[in-house]
Amino acid sequence: MKVLVVGSGGREHAVIMKLKESKDIDEIVCAPGNGGISAIARCVNVKATNIEGMKKLALDEQVGFCVVTPDDPLALGMVDALEEAGIPCFGPRKDAAIIEASKAFSKELMKKYNIPTASYEIFDDASKAMAYIKERNEYPTVIKADGLALGKGVLIATSEQEAMDAINQMMVDKAFGDSGNKVVVEEFMQGTEVSVLAFTDGKTIKPMVSSMDHKRANDNDEGLNTGGMGTIAPSPLYTDDIAKTCMDAIFVPTMEAMNKEGRTFKGCLYFGLMLTEKGPRVVEYNCRFGDPETQVVLPLLESDLFTIMKACHDETLSDVDVKWSNESAACVIEASGGYPLAYEKGFAIKGLDENGQHEGIVVYHAGTKKENNVYYTNGGRVLGLMAKGDTLEEALDKAYAATKEVGFEKMHYRTDIGKKLRKAQ
Ligand code: AMP
Ligand code: GLY
Repeated sequence: MKVLVVGSGGREHAVIMKLKESKDIDEIVCAPGNGGISAIARCVNVKATNIEGMKKLALDEQVGFCVVTPDDPLALGMVDALEEAGIPCFGPRKDAAIIEASKAFSKELMKKYNIPTASYEIFDDASKAMAYIKERNEYPTVIKADGLALGKGVLIATSEQEAMDAINQMMVDKAFGDSGNKVVVEEFMQGTEVSVLAFTDGKTIKPMVSSMDHKRANDNDEGLNTGGMGTIAPSPLYTDDIAKTCMDAIFVPTMEAMNKEGRTFKGCLYFGLMLTEKGPRVVEYNCRFGDPETQVVLPLLESDLFTIMKACHDETLSDVDVKWSNESAACVIEASGGYPLAYEKGFAIKGLDENGQHEGIVVYHAGTKKENNVYYTNGGRVLGLMAKGDTLEEALDKAYAATKEVGFEKMHYRTDIGKKLRKAQ
């Protein structure tokens, strides 16, 4: 079968690498893809958000299955459009993708179905939001733009002034466009974050191994929020007991809540969790694989990813065995200096072979392009260097050793990915 994967980042590279192991797939087409992906899949230059273009590509190529990976096309209804054209997909329909696309929706869902999360209020009026924050007078306080904002629409205000600035930025200056028409003001939760991605067909939910992202640009969680600067899996803090609590109090109730709302979710449901003193609580939902969580989770999957994806579509997930390795994985993101603000592109990357790989690790390409067999930087997050090991320490040591050999001018990476958890295993 020919499969189309929509997207162009390190996450898509990881999905494609895993799908390549499936004996049921003859060819993978990726749109739009990137330099590194082009070494293992045929890349076609159709933008991930171009619904009509993607439908045409899928029909012209006669693909048998499509994996829609990024949030924007899911929120725009790409799965609906492709399935109406007769192409089965992995990924939620638009009415279910709203669980990520509207934070107001997801907060109301959790309240209605008693799913543990931070307390909150929703506002579509800046002066009312400001009055509420002043009266509540509790800092830090968390202010979130309702809509998609490339992971940047969340501001944690440590004073009244910062909170007023955040409301002005989102609701008045429209720093995140229409995403800030509504805001959620919520309680700040103290604890450790863990991400759990889960396969679901709407009837069964099968969590993957846990992982932990590092969202801030600099060491010690300083600097601006980014798409993610590095990940480890599994998180040693996510114990079997916590996993059971999450399954009973969060994962299954969320799947059932979406069914009751008439918005059955099929695909990968991402739970961003905070492990607090009072137990695990939801920070956010995403309607898709996380980036760069996928780069450490899928390498630990021992079962056939394509079989699982088809089962999510066919609603037969309960019949499929989903097995995980006992190893650990670590991924260190090499970014362009300046990211997430302005950065330069076009630097040649050293240390890669012609397939864009490096011995002993797996290199996931996020923002690269290939010209005359040379890979060049072409985005904010450029590469993810992923290594596996019997322990987290071993995986981290291997990934970090590779940063000395694979790199480019003005490169920036965090030196403390997984550091706090190294010994916690
Ligand atoms: P989100 O886009 O909702 O995941 O938020 C981005 C990041 O902001 C999260 O990964 C957390 O680190 C932080 N965050 C969001 N909401 C809260 C909260 N209620 N309490 C503490 N931290 C939060
Ligand atoms: N790494 C966080 C996300 O994918 O949203």
